[in-house]
Amino acid sequence: MNKTAADIALRNDPRVPARPLGFPHLPPPVPTASVDGAFSEVALRVRALAADTWGAPRVVEMVGQHPSYVGLLAKLQKVAAYDEPVLISGESGSGKESLAQAIYLLGSRRAKPYVVVNCPQYQDGNLTVSELFGHTRGSFTGATTDRKGCFETGNGGVIFLDEIADLHMSAQVMLLRALASGEFQPLGSDSTRSVNVRVVAATNRALEQLIVAQQFRHDLFLRLHYFMLRVPPLRERGDDWLVLLDFRLFRLRQKYGVAKKFSRDALDRLAAYHWPGNVRQLNSLATSGYAMAEGDTIRLADFETQLDVGGGVMVGANGSAFFYDQAVPIVANLVLALRDGVPRAVTDILAMVDPASTDIVTRLLRDLVGAGALFADVPSDRGV
Ligand SMILES: Nc1ncnc2c1ncn2[C@@H]1O[C@H](COP(=O)(O)OP(=O)(O)O)[C@@H](O)[C@H]1O
Ligand SMILES: [Mg+2]
Repeated sequence: MNKTAADIALRNDPRVPARPLGFPHLPPPVPTASVDGAFSEVALRVRALAADTWGAPRVVEMVGQHPSYVGLLAKLQKVAAYDEPVLISGESGSGKESLAQAIYLLGSRRAKPYVVVNCPQYQDGNLTVSELFGHTRGSFTGATTDRKGCFETGNGGVIFLDEIADLHMSAQVMLLRALASGEFQPLGSDSTRSVNVRVVAATNRALEQLIVAQQFRHDLFLRLHYFMLRVPPLRERGDDWLVLLDFRLFRLRQKYGVAKKFSRDALDRLAAYHWPGNVRQLNSLATSGYAMAEGDTIRLADFETQLDVGGGVMVGANGSAFFYDQAVPIVANLVLALRDGVPRAVTDILAMVDPASTDIVTRLLRDLVGAGALFADVPSDRGV
């Protein structure tokens, strides 16, 4: 087998042999372990064996059957063949990083480095710029040696910029230049380096809003959005939660040797659930349910606490979701605007919230006002 080849199969039914999509090598059949038996599955499995020196992903599995997800996989396969940047949006845990890995594994750079930069990790501008572009000795306090940045170590390959909304402004300017010309200067250096990398960026925040707030550069946004891929949240993917659960149970059985399934009640509860933490939450819920279950049936009580993550999700008017905790400041501002009688502020804040989330806002208002100490000066009879 050609070790650098990527293998893809798109399947409609687990019992039907995999259908190759323009790639010569078939992967092993996509496994299924039925929760209830009769549903179909589409899965993309990508593997490449050449890039292991870089700690790069070698297999990524993307399971789903909802048209929105299948459509995304089809787009992914087109986008992978190009060199232009990709911007992936989607809620936390929805599968953005998996998508980035698949773009890398399916593209021609898979034998080259894959470098991940977690943008929020670097609070300070110098450290961010240094991480991306390197620095020379003495260029800032603590820079005791020359250091290469990701753009240099990742030359020829793919750089994944995770949570790019949090990229420091000074690094945004340099990234823009690097994307436009392939050139950059390490911090403290006069010499210009030139590299060939593909940038894939991900965000769970609406960059458009950050641009308006002048926290993200519009020109950088335009440079990044040659290809925009939106990963739909799990709650918008129909029965995919069940397919994913089934897949996770199969993996757990493979790893720990015991076949377990969810009880009818548990599945009914999950069918009505909104998955604020998306696939990541589903995986941890399945794993802890599997571990806690006595015998071979996973009951609601075995994973119920996992359903409380953040207590709820609030959908913003732009379609983005906030966890309960993230929504608190928004609603707290609402409380203050109501208290101070600033109708315009109230309208602005409410404009950020989708009508579908009204119940959560109401609950938050109740909780916050009820929290007494925090809002001791908000009379609870002022309409909130
Ligand atoms: N379609 C999918 N099929 C199987 N596993 C998935 C799928 N989407 C995401 N995952 C898994 O869920 C977890 C979260 O995905 P990740 O790509 O890290 O999300 P994000 O980057 O959006 O936070 C990872 O363990 C990933 O392997
Ligand atoms: Mg992530």
